[in-house]
Amino acid sequence: KFMIFRQLFDYETYTYTYLIGDEKTKEAVLIDSVYEQAERDYKLVTELGLDVKYLLETHVHADHITGVSRLKEFFPEAKSVVSRFGGADCTDKPVDEGDEIRIGEISIKVLSTPGHTNGCVSYSVGSMVFSGDALFIRGSGRTDFQQGSSEKLYDSVINKLFKLPDETIVYPGHDYKGMHYSTIGEEKKFNPRFAGKSKEEFIEIMNNLKLPNPKKIHEAVPANLQCGKV
Ligand code: FE2
Repeated sequence: KFMIFRQLFDYETYTYTYLIGDEKTKEAVLIDSVYEQAERDYKLVTELGLDVKYLLETHVHADHITGVSRLKEFFPEAKSVVSRFGGADCTDKPVDEGDEIRIGEISIKVLSTPGHTNGCVSYSVGSMVFSGDALFIRGSGRTDFQQGSSEKLYDSVINKLFKLPDETIVYPGHDYKGMHYSTIGEEKKFNPRFAGKSKEEFIEIMNNLKLPNPKKIHEAVPANLQCGKV
């Protein structure tokens, strides 16, 4: 056992932030941090004796501002990581399919999973996958802004995430029902948007969601394109 792992939750935006650390080297990453939770994350990371090397984003978020700019004040060496197609030119490390991030013994592999936005990635770490807003537990991210595409999202989930081993644990970017994690096998069977659904049926479902815009979209997107500077 060499990995430290925590799932953190932001009650305001239902966002999961993940902390992964290497026990030996004390290097760590945070995935999808939240601006308002920077102190919480800093406190936990320091209590665990870790040092953040990378601040990973699964995408440029529309519902919350990333904690990257604030966490960089606490961890000056931390590098921000986001998809090269995300449009956040401020990032230290633009990534794409097949790229790898290492902390100690831990390898984090980048899977390109566009559809919710054009620049969405998932991160695969051993038998876990951090699916961002591509795949939720029994759901998926929406596809109606930020160059979203239902067609691309269907392909990302069916042809990429669902090709991972069934026992892979799915850690989503959000959950609105208090579900913490799932597995690929479970989502293949029970996710109502994908299980037994053709691409056409999925597109039909997505076209009829009629969701209101996220409350913070007009401040979150521009701030996140500046890596969280407000
Ligand atoms: Fe999102």
